[in-house]
Amino acid sequence: MKRLQGKVALVTGSGGGIGRGIALRFAREGAKVGVLDLLPAPCQQVVDEIRAQGGEALALPCDISREEQVKAAVDELSRAYGDITVLVNNAAVMPSGRLHETSVADFDRCVAVNLRGTFLVSRAVIPGMLRVGTGSIIHMSSVTGLLGLPGITAYSMTKGGLAALARAMSTDYARLGIRVNVVSPGTIDSPMLHAFVAAQSHPEKIRQEFDEMHPIGRVGKIDEVASVFVFLASDESSFVTGANYTVDGGLSVKGTQPQDTPDA
Ligand SMILES: NC(=O)c1ccc[n+]([C@@H]2O[C@H](COP(=O)([O-])OP(=O)(O)OC[C@H]3O[C@@H](n4cnc5c(N)ncnc54)[C@H](O)[C@@H]3O)[C@@H](O)[C@H]2O)c1
Repeated sequence: MKRLQGKVALVTGSGGGIGRGIALRFAREGAKVGVLDLLPAPCQQVVDEIRAQGGEALALPCDISREEQVKAAVDELSRAYGDITVLVNNAAVMPSGRLHETSVADFDRCVAVNLRGTFLVSRAVIPGMLRVGTGSIIHMSSVTGLLGLPGITAYSMTKGGLAALARAMSTDYARLGIRVNVVSPGTIDSPMLHAFVAAQSHPEKIRQEFDEMHPIGRVGKIDEVASVFVFLASDESSFVTGANYTVDGGLSVKGTQPQDTPDA
């Protein structure tokens, strides 16, 4: 028996990166997957990959900060496969900069996608979970929501907010069959990391620093994050709610070092 057989899963931001990895793993474990992202082409590409490996998936182009688009995407997935029983709130944007360097427009977009988007998608999905009396909601946070890594203030604030949101939701829905957890990865070997490293003046040095920052001695792999999502989505985690799983090679135990702090 596959670990997610019978589940209908919606994964936001799954047109690429870690979300794509989670969608592919969910499908391999038997879930029917809604692949939601901003643009149709990346969604369709991941759907094609899932179908090629024998799974079932639906492309759902959608901006999660727009209520009417979210409602349409959730309705479409529910019509196709039945009520959604697993929700991964993975989509996010990451403007860089300390507080005084962050534009108001970047701040507003970060809140609109990372927090309002998670609120809107959860709000649209929860009535179906209540109807069937079961559900697992997993918010994608980051160790920066726990630690405060330098130069990504608005992003860190939203990631901390998602951890608080998961705790609040977990108490509200614990008796109603819906579990709510949060995952906080360290740095992951992903297109987002590759793009960041490539833009630096000494890419190899920066890449090495990312590896060394994590006590395990390397950054994480997408599949190592996806494994935790499979566990939290499955009935194996039936007594787990309100938890914050760090998947960070020990980074949050070590904490940030003084040399990580940028100059004024
Ligand atoms: N890569 C890392 O090292 C790392 C570490 C910790 C946490 N995370 C978190 O993991 C998640 C995935 O990150 P990633 O590295 O795959 O980055 P990514 O940028 O590749 O993935 C984010 C996805 O969200 C989508 N998205 C953005 N705005 C959207 C919107 N309004 N509506 C719908 N989709 C939207 C993007 O198109 C993109 O496909 C994010 O929540 C990120 O904060 C990543």
